[in-house]
Amino acid sequence: MSQTSPNYDESKVPALILPDPFVSEKGSLIQTPEAWETIRRPEIFNLFESEVYGRIPKDFDSISFELAQETRNPFSEIAELEEVNIRVSRNGRSHTLRINLFLPKATKEKAPVILLVNYLPTYSDGKLVDEAFWPVPELIRRGLATASFHAETVAPDDATSYQEGIISTLYPEEIGKPDGLKAFGAWGWAAMRAMDYFEQHPKIDAQKSILVGHSRTGKTALWTSANDPRWAITYANESGCGGAALSKRKFGETVEAINTRFPHWFADNFRKYNGREEDLSLDQHLLPGLIAPRAVYYSSARGDQWADPKGEYLGLQLGARVASSIFGKNATFHSSFEELNGPVHLEGVGYHIREGKHDLTWEDWKIFLDFVGKTL
Ligand code: GCU
Repeated sequence: MSQTSPNYDESKVPALILPDPFVSEKGSLIQTPEAWETIRRPEIFNLFESEVYGRIPKDFDSISFELAQETRNPFSEIAELEEVNIRVSRNGRSHTLRINLFLPKATKEKAPVILLVNYLPTYSDGKLVDEAFWPVPELIRRGLATASFHAETVAPDDATSYQEGIISTLYPEEIGKPDGLKAFGAWGWAAMRAMDYFEQHPKIDAQKSILVGHSRTGKTALWTSANDPRWAITYANESGCGGAALSKRKFGETVEAINTRFPHWFADNFRKYNGREEDLSLDQHLLPGLIAPRAVYYSSARGDQWADPKGEYLGLQLGARVASSIFGKNATFHSSFEELNGPVHLEGVGYHIREGKHDLTWEDWKIFLDFVGKTL
């Protein structure tokens, strides 16, 4: 049955039958990092790739970096601004994407870097995104470098034109495949190219790279980090359906709702589960395990029921068991969602929920930065 209006009633949430992260498809019990890495993790990764997000191609022929100077640096007292054109070629065609990187002037050592995948209007006329959404000066004052790119410069966030970026230029063979590259994969691919830049940068400590996304780009950040082990910390703020939240709860946004409004985000295969979440042989609680033992951080807002805060917390609480049981981290969330009282910052996993509506705010950043301080 297809659902037309969203459910916000906890008593109508179906009984959850969730796949066990610790039992392989052939029925063996997974207990060691080795069995996890060689057997169970690839099984789960392949399921997410084929049934939910689609592929992120890893191959290209060449990459080059060129500095531009087009935007006024609004933080020139404390930060250097690098506007980097990243040009990637494959099969004789190329695409250039732009990242903006701020480096702290005061630090002499290599700086950790935070990359924010951004989908809000930005960079025109020297104007950067909102300072609460991307608090550049606060990050710089803490000795962090920070970069961002606009998702639309690699794949427009639009159902009819999303291929008019890297998909049609660099990876046209992906078009039409049920598990092919879609917009989230393209944005993630761009984050990986930003990482390629960080890795060769003399002022950046790329071992301490942090990937941050809000909402649709929070979903993207999680899938990117599952594909690319170079991110030390991955932060998904209010990423909801297809991100942090368990799909099988069918609370707030459903698989059908998201695939209908945003058919360009996920693999076409994901549509098979429209109104049929119970048929999914995975759920989002398996996603943090693909990132473990690297750190994962989620946050929710109480006024953001569309993203299902309880489903987000459960996704992490259940998912963090890979970090604790397989990798021996102190990563057990002891409280139920209802008992939560303040942020929970554990070893390599963290969560907070705040009052208010769907947004990435300075309050979110501040609590997350406490976790970063404890984790890096
Ligand atoms: C819509 C969409 C969500 C998404 C959000 C956002 O609300 O339904 O899935 O997370 O936009 O990106 O802000």
